[in-house]
Amino acid sequence: MTVKPGVANSLSLVEDQPEPAPEEGAILVEALAVGICGTDHEIIAGEYGEAPPAEDRLIIGHESLGRVLEDPTGTLQPGDLVAGIVRHPDPVPCPNCAVGEWDMCRNGQYTEHGIKALSGFARDRWRIEPQFAVKLDPALGRVGMLLEPTSVVAKAWDHIERIGHRAEWQPQTVLVTGAGPIGLLAALLATQRGLTVHVLDRATSGPKPDLVAALGASYHTVPVNDLPFDPDVVVECTGAPTVVIDVMCKAAPTGIVCLAGVSSGGRSIDFDAGALNRALVLENNVVFGSVNANRRHWNMAAQALSRADQSWLESLLTRRLPVERYAEAYAPEQGDIKVVLEFGS
Ligand code: BGC
Repeated sequence: MTVKPGVANSLSLVEDQPEPAPEEGAILVEALAVGICGTDHEIIAGEYGEAPPAEDRLIIGHESLGRVLEDPTGTLQPGDLVAGIVRHPDPVPCPNCAVGEWDMCRNGQYTEHGIKALSGFARDRWRIEPQFAVKLDPALGRVGMLLEPTSVVAKAWDHIERIGHRAEWQPQTVLVTGAGPIGLLAALLATQRGLTVHVLDRATSGPKPDLVAALGASYHTVPVNDLPFDPDVVVECTGAPTVVIDVMCKAAPTGIVCLAGVSSGGRSIDFDAGALNRALVLENNVVFGSVNANRRHWNMAAQALSRADQSWLESLLTRRLPVERYAEAYAPEQGDIKVVLEFGS
């Protein structure tokens, strides 16, 4: 599956792609599936994404699940389930990339499979170096493409906890805004931490209310300001400007607001920046952004998925389509949570 970055609707299935070059990695993997997310839709719309140097097309797909065909390094065995880490460190490398924290890259020269200057995983076979391959529990065979979005929320939770421990910290109530895949997985990780979890979304029908209830969490469709509690932690996954501002004001004293939703930009809203600053200062609140994940977070995500109810994870995958039906798969539909493109048999 390829696009011409910067050109809207250039998505096409290219049938005569060469085999992945040995320089792409020692481990040869047969693709089983890729998950599709908002970033893919932005790339297809020509708003994001970058082709590898000297190429004009980018192979997309960054939420991978594959089966190892060969690994001459002996790190993995043929037949192992594997996912590829999305981001590679910048070549300089900056102080963070130098220690394996490419998710915190400081100079922006990182690359990302299927997104930024590195071929993605939506192709029959791909290659990866052992340090970027994450082995999956065989029980995750049907849902392993959720490892990538789970790594993103595992990082968000890791940083929430690090920030929380700046002082005595006993959080109880979590608000997740947006019940898409990232929001639902953030809520899953919150329930695994024994917290009281609330999820807010616009949808009043479809699968979201039941998915939230199945986690033992509460589902809300009211405006943020009407919620009858002040959350200790917010994981904001909508990127919607008013929701972003509202949750910053709604957090409890010493609250932590993690912004994990990428806004499209271009929309202005009026708000009282001074009042917001006053509230944040006087309540010792923290607002921070979080993107991507490093290897430690991928390992945390693999553990979180193994501990989760597999049938709940499966119910996040609302449509699974073979690669030949890619046009349908990449066209968003009402009620979609996660759409998956399947490869081979
Ligand atoms: C991916 C991240 C990536 C980000 C920005 C997200 O969709 O999950 O891994 O860093 O896009 O490119």
